[in-house]
Amino acid sequence: MMKLRPPVLFLSLLPTVFLLLSVAYKFRRIGSLVRDDRHVLSNSSVLTPKPGSASAKIDRVTLCGQRGALQNTSIVRVPHANIFLVSAYHDRREGGRSTRVIGIANRYEPDALSCRFCCRGRSEIVTVTASTYIHSDHFDFPYGAADFLCAEPPGCLPGHVSVRRARATPDEEEAEWVFMPVRNRLRAPRTFAREFSVCISTLFGNYGNALQFVQAIEMYRILGAGRVTVYNTSCSSELNRVLLYYVETGLVEVVPWPIADYVRVSKGWHYPEHPGELHYYGQIAALNDCVYRHMYSTRYLVLTDIDEVIVPLKHADWKDLVRHLNDRYGAEIYLFENHVFPDTASEEFGSKFQAWDAIPGVNIMRRIRREPNQPEVFNPTKMIVNPRAVLQTSVHSALNALGISETVPGDTAIMHHYRAAKRPDLPLESLVVDLALWRYNATLIRNVNKVLNRVFWNV
Ligand SMILES: *[C@@H]1O[C@H](CO)[C@@H](O)[C@H](O)[C@H]1NC(C)=O
Ligand SMILES: *[C@@H]1O[C@H](CO)[C@@H](O)[C@H](O)[C@H]1NC(C)=O
Repeated sequence: MMKLRPPVLFLSLLPTVFLLLSVAYKFRRIGSLVRDDRHVLSNSSVLTPKPGSASAKIDRVTLCGQRGALQNTSIVRVPHANIFLVSAYHDRREGGRSTRVIGIANRYEPDALSCRFCCRGRSEIVTVTASTYIHSDHFDFPYGAADFLCAEPPGCLPGHVSVRRARATPDEEEAEWVFMPVRNRLRAPRTFAREFSVCISTLFGNYGNALQFVQAIEMYRILGAGRVTVYNTSCSSELNRVLLYYVETGLVEVVPWPIADYVRVSKGWHYPEHPGELHYYGQIAALNDCVYRHMYSTRYLVLTDIDEVIVPLKHADWKDLVRHLNDRYGAEIYLFENHVFPDTASEEFGSKFQAWDAIPGVNIMRRIRREPNQPEVFNPTKMIVNPRAVLQTSVHSALNALGISETVPGDTAIMHHYRAAKRPDLPLESLVVDLALWRYNATLIRNVNKVLNRVFWNV
């Protein structure tokens, strides 16, 4: 991360910074395919989607003379390849006009793909070979997030794209065409529909932490979120009721994320000690999809997990915070230190929260103590980004961006992480009492009660 504070120095160095970034990007393209470790190939497998899960109602279309189906699931398999596609976005930020298809690929079976475009006003399909960029943050799993970039031919405005292997056999050509809409073609209005949106990837393992979920969403709302996008693999029936309520009110958007039907996903973050073939339920692909999905609808995007809240310490909300950060640093990506509020330290508060005790899940308001950070230990930061500056994102930082990243000082804002203790041996007295979240107590309690009333108490 570069720190170039004086504005003059910064401006004069700008061309160099961009050059360095683009060189780094090219190297990443070349260096990302690991060729040793071929043993994992033998473990490679693909699960067949569960019957009835996805393809029940297919919209048949004929586009540019080709019969096919419109994409109606969040994940589309490329025929005869271990590649899964999520979404296609028009992108012209790097010069030429491209369609970027975000997906998940087996790094050891790098099939070359081609885009079959249906361009506006054309009568025939136009075929273009895709360039494959496997994201370098695959955490050694055999599958990783990937971008497939197809240059849009001159005069072609693709409305839809279908993706196949570049050297498809006649057999494969017979396979059904699935047309994905190419989104983000209608670009930035000058104003954004929302100032802040939040990306939450991914709910899995029958996720049922309903109380913490409501508290987190209400904190995001208090801090300025106009939309929270949640990638949903599986959740409990209580949590589903909460989701349905929030979807109805428009605050939450749920993206179905049935990734476990396609790849053996891992519940952990590193291969091979966490079994599975794809990092953490495909979190990286979901996050990247979320960045592109919101690119022109929100001014800023907050990338955290549902057990995390970025809390300003000197400002009332994210808008004031980011205005301050922009004045001070002029960065496009702000990184916030992770601070663990461990489950081993939970404050009673008498009978104050009695009514909430019947709701499944954690009460983050009881967590007022955090573990002191160790400066020598890697800090898994989370981010607030200008999505239009992000080309590829990882979980704790942006991999490729058109702008600088800045780590926010711990006295300005930090990320609260309500989770299992990282250092369970620490005595209670060595934890730091932190009441920053409690500054919002009146509004937070009122808002949470309102939701619980509607969803569980039928008041
Ligand atoms: C979340 O995913 C589960 C499992 O697929 C599904 O049953 C549930 O309906 C989903 N919830 C929403 C709100 O989409
Ligand atoms: C709780 O909220 C009230 C009302 O806004 C405020 O006066 C009080 O200081 C807050 N408590 C804490 C610990 O910040």
